[in-house]
Amino acid sequence: MKSEVILILDFGGQYNQLIARRVREEGVYSEIVPYTISIDKIKEINPKGIIFTGGPASVYLEDAPKLDKEIFDLGIPILGICYGMQLMAYTLGGEVSRASKREYGVTSVKVNNRSLLFDSFKRTNKFLMSHTDYVSKLPKGFKRISYTDNCMYAGIENPTKKLYGIQFHPEVNNSINGNIVIRNFIYNICNCSGDWKMSSFVEDSIKSIKKKVGNGKVLCALSGGVDSSVAAALLYKAVGKNLTCVFVDHGLLRKNESEEVEEVFTKNFDVNFIKIDASSRFLNKLSGVVEPEAKRKIIGEEFIRVFEEASKKIGKVDYLVQGTIYPDVIESGFGASSKIKSHHNVGGLPDVVDFKEIIEPLRDLFKDEVRKVGLELGLPEYLVYRQPFPGPGLAIRVIGDITLDKLNILREADYIFREEIAKAKLDRDINQYFAVLTNLKSVGVMGDERTYDYTIALRAVSTIDFMTAEWSKIPYDLLEIISNRIVNEVNHVNRVVYDITGKPPATIEWE
Ligand code: XMP
Repeated sequence: MKSEVILILDFGGQYNQLIARRVREEGVYSEIVPYTISIDKIKEINPKGIIFTGGPASVYLEDAPKLDKEIFDLGIPILGICYGMQLMAYTLGGEVSRASKREYGVTSVKVNNRSLLFDSFKRTNKFLMSHTDYVSKLPKGFKRISYTDNCMYAGIENPTKKLYGIQFHPEVNNSINGNIVIRNFIYNICNCSGDWKMSSFVEDSIKSIKKKVGNGKVLCALSGGVDSSVAAALLYKAVGKNLTCVFVDHGLLRKNESEEVEEVFTKNFDVNFIKIDASSRFLNKLSGVVEPEAKRKIIGEEFIRVFEEASKKIGKVDYLVQGTIYPDVIESGFGASSKIKSHHNVGGLPDVVDFKEIIEPLRDLFKDEVRKVGLELGLPEYLVYRQPFPGPGLAIRVIGDITLDKLNILREADYIFREEIAKAKLDRDINQYFAVLTNLKSVGVMGDERTYDYTIALRAVSTIDFMTAEWSKIPYDLLEIISNRIVNEVNHVNRVVYDITGKPPATIEWE
């Protein structure tokens, strides 16, 4: 299924996942690993090529991430991007200096299209530059293949040793034809054949799950989200009635969500479907709890308890399915980034007793790949393209303490917001959008009456990886319609505000 791997060494740059996705979009499996990976491990993986990502450090400083020189002698093609290029040059005896001014933005970049890396490119191209440090002297054996007005070495190569470096970022959309730089690297330089396709992923997964599970019993916790639904559908194709799906309704779902999940899995797929209404249990546990991390913990723990009880009733099962996807693995697995929030769907359920093994069939996939798999498996589009919804649900969108009344107010407001966004056909453009019930009451006037009611905040963001995000520029007219509908149709809301903060400094969710 994936005999070819491009290994991506992570130096902490913000576009790392994007690099991995671009490689996969070109049909080659890629994997992100910490830059501290050992040479032996690299040899064991035996990648067709290696990419060094960008990163925030300055290579000439003592505590900057460094690499063993040996990596350049393995005979494996390497492409260094931004910091990755500087590190390559520095390690091999070149020089890296600090410019007086940062070069940032889409820039005219001249390339030498006789280099395999720039095969089929015009001489002048528009690529995103974002750097202060630059390579100021080439290491031995290297020559220049690209430059800009401000950067004398925007691209370098040592074709004999198959080492390439670029200062710009080919992985971002603003770099026109940046994907072709990546394609050239993996096909012209690494000689990949391109064996990574979603249809073969589905086929191969079904085969290998069948082989592994045999006639064993499989249990899947459905959350209603895209990932667990796709994982369940995949397992269903592999083991049929040996799969039992347990859907815990924690009472923190959006309007109609619980019913929709039930319908898909009882009508589209004939799985053993158990729905547990645990809403009052969760609400009791959450009563009076204000602190966001405390809410997350309680929900995570309660989930396990409910699940544990359910699994006792189901009896012995052999395997537990989880909808873990690749960004979850990367984000919780390694990297120096500090923990901002504890995402409860990662590593939660495995502690529950009595399972022989956990199956995570989507562990290697990015979200867009998971969606493709979902469509291949015949899941309805509305489910496959559902925007992400956090495990703790509306609990982290009701600011402060949670009550059933507040949840219902939020559900109605959120529903109107979603309905209007869909009507305006913006639902595929805005990556995540939802309402938040702030804990703020303010004075308003309705008819001739004074009101003292809640403020709803609307949040909508565009983002590629959910690690950073921009607030969406929803047209004013549409915001007006949404605001009017919410204050008119939802009791106890008299004010609507729109969140115009990016991430960073804010996060996407309010808690
Ligand atoms: P933040 O708020 O950290 O959110 O900018 C980034 C993305 O993660 C989602 N999110 C969660 N997902 N469990 C989840 O499964 C959680 O506890 C959780 N918290 C945030 C959030 O909706 C956004 O898509």
